[in-house]
Amino acid sequence: MAQNWTPGSWRQKPIQQVPEYPDAAALAATEATLATYPPLVFAGEARRLKKQLANVAEGNAFLMQGGDCAESFLEHGADNIRDFFRAFLQMAVVLTYGAQLPVVKVGRIAGQFAKPRSSNVEVQDGVSLPSYRGDIINGIEFNEASRIPNPERQLDAYRQSAATLNLLRAFAMGGYANLENVHQWMLGFIKDSPQADRYRKLADRISETMDFMKAIGISADSNPSLRETDFFTSHEALLLGYEEALTRVDSTSGDWYATSGHMLWIGDRTRQLDHAHVEYFRGIKNPIGLKCGPSLTPDNLIELIDALNPANEAGRLTLICRFGHDKVADSLPKLIRAVEKEGRKVVWSCDPMHGNTITLNHYKTRPFERILSEVESFFQIHRAEGTHPGGIHIEMTGKDVTECTGGARAVTADSLSDRYHTHCDPRLNADQALELAFLLSERMKSGRDEKRLAIANA
Ligand code: TRP
Ligand code: MN
Repeated sequence: MAQNWTPGSWRQKPIQQVPEYPDAAALAATEATLATYPPLVFAGEARRLKKQLANVAEGNAFLMQGGDCAESFLEHGADNIRDFFRAFLQMAVVLTYGAQLPVVKVGRIAGQFAKPRSSNVEVQDGVSLPSYRGDIINGIEFNEASRIPNPERQLDAYRQSAATLNLLRAFAMGGYANLENVHQWMLGFIKDSPQADRYRKLADRISETMDFMKAIGISADSNPSLRETDFFTSHEALLLGYEEALTRVDSTSGDWYATSGHMLWIGDRTRQLDHAHVEYFRGIKNPIGLKCGPSLTPDNLIELIDALNPANEAGRLTLICRFGHDKVADSLPKLIRAVEKEGRKVVWSCDPMHGNTITLNHYKTRPFERILSEVESFFQIHRAEGTHPGGIHIEMTGKDVTECTGGARAVTADSLSDRYHTHCDPRLNADQALELAFLLSERMKSGRDEKRLAIANA
């Protein structure tokens, strides 16, 4: 147990990105109510995810983490959840085949409601109001009633998370995630894609593998592992009062766990060593993520690892790198070398979204080529350093939105306004997400072929 730590010890530390609730008593009452509610996840599940992530840290699995930038109360329909899960699973199959490794599946979902902002206020036509900080805190509509932080929203976020998680569990275990279905959807995607020829080879190989398995008697009916999948939830634990209320002692181990999701991460804006967020995270036993941006120095990083993973436990800490396509070559190698030199066990994951945001026609967008380029560089750098490019972290949706430009069915600067629905950052649409998975899969396969060739020639 971390020294002098309690679920509320973060309150003694300086804190960034904290909303100003006008009614402190109402906030305290909400937190007290939340503290009586059942946990959303169970500690045993968090430990299971940690074990799977340890496998990633050791180079024997790949992490896929993705979902909305911010979930919203308005978009809480079954179709949204289903379409997201469908796109996510298709990506997972393609990546599993490309990597020939298990893919650890973690959604940015069922709790991803709080957003850090660069400014505390937003000014429109001379009117200044608090910035939108995510549906768990205030409303996106630009008027005073909606923008004043309202604690009641935390109860709504809790309930939405519970309902979302319930449906995801049903999908993951109840037959929807059957590998044969997912494969059929993937073939459907290929058929309609302008890049069909490019993807067909890989798709054919997956089809052949499935047919072979069926021929020798390995079918979904007889094998739960073909029918079911482990799916975990994650979010940025920004709103610490909410997190504290859902932090519970696990009766089997006596340890403290965050029970608002399986994995939580610290944002790039709130990772100061002596501040509240690092304090909170050091005491929970969940697997955790740390967002690493260009301002993070190697010394900084090692200090943070000391604080967050003092026992050097594999699977505990995932470094989610978000440098930007033009900065990754400068920023990433020195961090990898520092971690390797100190012998620290981490998962390296690539977030190619957050460093590649630009404004076009007044829309925040991300060019698909830059996203691809950052992922490519991430893989190349790890190959050069001899380390494992452990995973990706993306903002995506299962819907046909027009928020990021590019892709095979190119979204142009002028078409951004067609279906720009995000409450926060631009997300890959279902086609762009699957296309990314195919391109990554090709890259991982060629990496494997190179390795095999090197072994054969040695
Ligand atoms: N259970 C395996 C896994 O989760 C295989 C599997 C079943 C799967 N359904 C899937 C893989 C859907 C990816 C997507 O990896
Ligand atoms: Mn975002």
